[in-house]
Amino acid sequence: MTQDEMKKKVAEAALAYVEKGTLVGVGTGSTANMFIDALATIKDDILGTVASSEVTAERLRGHGIPVFDLNEALAKHGRLSVYVDGADEFDPLKCLTKGGGGALTREKIVAAASNKFVCIVDASKQVDALGAFPLPIEVIPMAKELIMHAAKDMGGSPVLRAGFVTDNGNDIVDVHGLCITDAKAMEDLWNATPGVVTNGIFAHQGADVILMGTPEGVVTIA
Ligand code: 5RP
Repeated sequence: MTQDEMKKKVAEAALAYVEKGTLVGVGTGSTANMFIDALATIKDDILGTVASSEVTAERLRGHGIPVFDLNEALAKHGRLSVYVDGADEFDPLKCLTKGGGGALTREKIVAAASNKFVCIVDASKQVDALGAFPLPIEVIPMAKELIMHAAKDMGGSPVLRAGFVTDNGNDIVDVHGLCITDAKAMEDLWNATPGVVTNGIFAHQGADVILMGTPEGVVTIA
């Protein structure tokens, strides 16, 4: 089975977590795109969606799936029933690294507004400890040099994501080579660094369920 076939399988498996008549949070990336395509087959069963990026909103609308603004959704309908998204890495505690697509801030917000986070990945994303994938950090532009210095002080090698601006008008610094032995502590450390909007570690708010695509089929890690 190819990597794309595994992604398609987990995207389709995630439909089992979509509750009728509710709002669904939708992530960003190639696996999330496959979930959007699958969601289109049951679009009449749901109230609508909240998107974690402009590109996701566009794809949802392209399928005729209603997209709500998060504030409007929460005010009118309350919390989202489920958030479905991919990840760049996940560890045995279901902590994640996200942000390879640069949508980490809105992803963390929509995940926080949802009752359950279902993470859809292929087996290549499974790691013993986070850190092999460079950690994406969304930063206020005036603080990017400050953040790059902080990353070096932590033993990492920061690289500014060239030619990329987030949906929020900010920069992304990708930090290579960090030794992440305690994902929650590392998430806290970056959260406490002035100029950081969001860091890509989802440890305090990791996945509730991971659907992992393998050549043998979908493995559920709950
Ligand atoms: C985007 C993300 C994605 O979930 C992550 O990059 C995985 O993407 P893909 O499904 O294409 O492998 O965090 O910001």
